[in-house]
Amino acid sequence: MFEHVDAYAGDPIFSLVEQFMKDPREDKVNLTIGFYFDEDGKVPNFSSVDKAKVWAADNPPASPVYLPMDGLPDYRVAVKSLAFGDALPLVDSRLASTQSLGGSGALKVGADLLKRYFPDSELWVSDPTWENHHSIFKGAGVKVNTYRYYNPQTKMLDFSGMLEDLNQLPEKAIVLLHPCCHNPTGIDLTNEQWQQVVDVVKQRNLLAFFDMAYQGFGFGLNEDTQAIKLMAESGQPFLLAQSFSKIFSLYSERVGALYVVCESPETAETVQGQLKFTVRTNYSTPPSFGARLVNHVLASDALTDEWKTELEAMRERMHIMRQQLVAKLGELRPDVDFSYLAAQVGMFSYTGFSPEQIKRLKDEFGVYLIASGRMCVAGLNTRNLDATAKAFAAVC
Ligand code: LMR
Repeated sequence: MFEHVDAYAGDPIFSLVEQFMKDPREDKVNLTIGFYFDEDGKVPNFSSVDKAKVWAADNPPASPVYLPMDGLPDYRVAVKSLAFGDALPLVDSRLASTQSLGGSGALKVGADLLKRYFPDSELWVSDPTWENHHSIFKGAGVKVNTYRYYNPQTKMLDFSGMLEDLNQLPEKAIVLLHPCCHNPTGIDLTNEQWQQVVDVVKQRNLLAFFDMAYQGFGFGLNEDTQAIKLMAESGQPFLLAQSFSKIFSLYSERVGALYVVCESPETAETVQGQLKFTVRTNYSTPPSFGARLVNHVLASDALTDEWKTELEAMRERMHIMRQQLVAKLGELRPDVDFSYLAAQVGMFSYTGFSPEQIKRLKDEFGVYLIASGRMCVAGLNTRNLDATAKAFAAVC
């Protein structure tokens, strides 16, 4: 019956994590998956979220019934303020939204909705992008294409190539954009460049789909939403996927949201119904625990302040690790220019290393990066930084 089922080649990120776990070397370094590791190499629990967990244990839901299909109502209100900030009044009346199973769940619900109502639209993602963007949209039946983004020669953004490609797209083409902390390159657009992208999206009547999984890891919670604010100001309808996996350290709880900014309140109401239907036909209703935690933190000024302080410390630590790595590499290999690594932001850096160099890093030095050359900067700490820099210097 099942003989014709193809073998799964494995996910490029999760498979590598499995390999890393099996590696017996004690000095191995995990720079693979996007987990935030602290200085001790542990994925931390936020103290603000721990307090919310204590509250949740003491205050179970009055009745253990299903949540609404589009999630916990208070949570949906709390998280939209975070996503849109002071641009919320520009979109609030024409916003449809749903709680989602992390950022991936938001992308999947969005992809299903788009496939149903824009059956002829194809998706354009940056080259490169997070591998799962391809899989999620292909899985929803959407054809996936790429626009230019990374220039391997300069190791910088190919902005003119990007604009040129976006300028060729047909009306209602879907364009996936990373508003901050681009995964995998760590190369972001400036606000001026975002404005130009927003202008093209509006002029060509494209459908932007933002994937925001790292808000606050770039320059700050507010600063990292500039692209979204500019799109909101343009009046153009768009979609936004929001994830709390990294920024609340709530990975397994699967907490996120999907927003569809429509052209009018009437349209938003109709789209809201279709979001519910899409959720119902995927997994029926979302789980409540993670959403209750996030909502509890955001509903309390004191806990929100505590969470923001914790988030800032993470951003700062990743920034320092990145700077120190570049400084160490400068000492070890003054003949090689690594300044591009310092210019990148967020959780990831694109090293520009070839698959052969990545293999050598793993086999000879126990330093694990994704085959594309992506490094998770949060995996660096003061104990493994020198060894990582030496390994990098050796394979250059
Ligand atoms: C990553 O890019 O490493 C993270 O987003 C984790 C994942 O699901 O791939």
